[in-house]
Amino acid sequence: MIDIDLSVIVAVDRNGLIGTDGGIPWREPQDMRYFQQVTDGHIVIMGRGTWDSIPEKFRPLPNRLNIIVTRQEDYVAHPNLEVRRVRDNKNPQGPKRPNAVYVNVRNSLRHALSCAHDKLQAREQVFVIGGAQLYRVALPVANRVYLTRVDIEVDVSGAKEVAYFPEMGENAWDLVSTTTVEGKTSKLTFEVYDRIYQGP
Ligand SMILES: NC(=O)c1ccc[n+]([C@@H]2O[C@H](COP(=O)([O-])OP(=O)(O)OC[C@H]3O[C@@H](n4cnc5c(N)ncnc54)[C@H](OP(=O)(O)O)[C@@H]3O)[C@@H](O)[C@H]2O)c1
Repeated sequence: MIDIDLSVIVAVDRNGLIGTDGGIPWREPQDMRYFQQVTDGHIVIMGRGTWDSIPEKFRPLPNRLNIIVTRQEDYVAHPNLEVRRVRDNKNPQGPKRPNAVYVNVRNSLRHALSCAHDKLQAREQVFVIGGAQLYRVALPVANRVYLTRVDIEVDVSGAKEVAYFPEMGENAWDLVSTTTVEGKTSKLTFEVYDRIYQGP
């Protein structure tokens, strides 16, 4: 795996649920602002499902290099954007820094990280921003988790698709900060975890 300082950012309900039917089943502007603040100016990696879930007018997420991973060879993340495959190498005529690229190779987290690594500029960080499939592969190699606890229990009885954040694993993470605020519909707790390194 590429040596990169990777963070994950996610919002979960009381049961660790992150999404239903391709969307997020709550609307908490304070959490959206928090997400914006934390990731602003950095690199965000997401699965194609999450990209699809972002309304067109809001994507690519501004002021962040958006990296979308897909297994589809001919997927075009955004028709009006300079999107290019990571393995297209240099395009001297193109912009130095397109704000969206897509990765369409099999072991895509590795390639997405390699792409992020190549484009990383000073003081930038790399975040995996979802969804469930991407969190599953990113969590084991992440060093930091920004986890928002939304104090609700989503009713999943009518949902066709339900997505959860993976188990973080006991004793693997150190809670380094926690802040609770009143959100629009529920209490929100912003937690930050750092990985605990098991020394050699
Ligand atoms: N609460 C939160 O913080 C939060 C954040 C983000 C998303 N979400 C929610 O999470 C749900 C989406 O999660 P999801 O698991 O369905 O989708 P996802 O992880 O966003 O995207 C899955 C897609 O990513 C591509 N992919 C995944 N692993 C890959 C790999 N190893 N190599 C290449 N491509 C790979 C595939 O795209 P192709 O099918 O194109 O090949 C796959 O279908 C939605 O409900 C969304 O709203 C919640």
